[in-house]
Amino acid sequence: EKDGYKHFMLKEIFEQPRTIEDTLKGRVFPDEARVYVEEVKIETKFIKDLSKICIIGCGTSYNAGLVAKFLFEKFLRVTVEVDIASEFRYREPVIDNKTLVIVISQSGETADTLAALRLANKKGCQTLAVCNVMESSISREAQHVIYTRCGPEIGVASTKAFTGQLTALYILALDWAAKKESLSKDVLKEYIKELWSIPVKVGDFLKTSDNVKEVAKNFSAKRDFLYLGRHVNFPIALEGALKLKEISYIHAEGYAAGEMKHGPIALIDESMPIVAIAPLGDVYEKILSNISEAKARGAIVIAVASENDKEIKQKSDAQIYVPATSELFSPFITVIPLQLLAYFVAEVLGKDVDQPRNLAKSVTVE
Ligand code: F6R
Repeated sequence: EKDGYKHFMLKEIFEQPRTIEDTLKGRVFPDEARVYVEEVKIETKFIKDLSKICIIGCGTSYNAGLVAKFLFEKFLRVTVEVDIASEFRYREPVIDNKTLVIVISQSGETADTLAALRLANKKGCQTLAVCNVMESSISREAQHVIYTRCGPEIGVASTKAFTGQLTALYILALDWAAKKESLSKDVLKEYIKELWSIPVKVGDFLKTSDNVKEVAKNFSAKRDFLYLGRHVNFPIALEGALKLKEISYIHAEGYAAGEMKHGPIALIDESMPIVAIAPLGDVYEKILSNISEAKARGAIVIAVASENDKEIKQKSDAQIYVPATSELFSPFITVIPLQLLAYFVAEVLGKDVDQPRNLAKSVTVE
């Protein structure tokens, strides 16, 4: 059942080219530059008149929501709020019948996310679930569901479910942009093509996993890690840090790279490696300068960089190269090395990767 892999988590990391592809299939048609999500029957008029999208989840699912905010804002020019479920439900969120509430949950049973969904239903919002488990409570109670087609996720640390969630969210953003006509046909076509190419790129990267293993070996004795990212890769910094904490029990924090000088820079010395997510794109120069600031204070930097980046080698101490993508699609590619890094560090340390202490796969209590 582990198909020869030592742990479910590793198997699930390696399944991602397929699970992303399965989630795309029958919904994205690159040749016709078309997206079609049969099961989501939200009216075009509702999409056009939307006042706000609220995205809600916990843990990794929340991090997927943070990435989606960039997409919906950029593609639809609509206000997007992202909330942790246990915060949303105890506020008095301003939501009504022009609000679309998207709940994200792999298991479909997370208690706080379910309660947030019930609140949104009660307030008259349209509700949509991004879910991996059919017939789960959340998929039954949401008005619309888009399923990720990842198959059962056994490892407690979520990996393939995260990239499945991203896939579903990118599909929805493209579908609604087409309906709202808020992106030009050419741009839409470009994005659809790029989304379609993701599984192959993830597969290509996975062939280089030994490099990540080497990096993990060199850094597994460290006690603290700082993950830095900007723009769409800020949520990926959070996700990378979450993965490391969960399974290796090493303290890790994710930060928006631009926030470093507002506090965390005080922590930096050679004992705390920095994982800098720095693919080529509009914010590349900015993150490079954050890397330089950190290096000037003695930091050791592990860079996750684009394969065609010539500069990064001089600026960082270790490099993990990922296939080139446009910045907007880079989270699919930058998160994979961080999943692997967490996995290999935990493995080197002999931790129980699939069943980390104190954690449950599905959190059905508040
Ligand atoms: C992280 C992890 C958790 C879950 C969270 C939400 O690796 O697994 O943070 O993401 O408990 O679970 P779902 O998505 O089932 O609602």
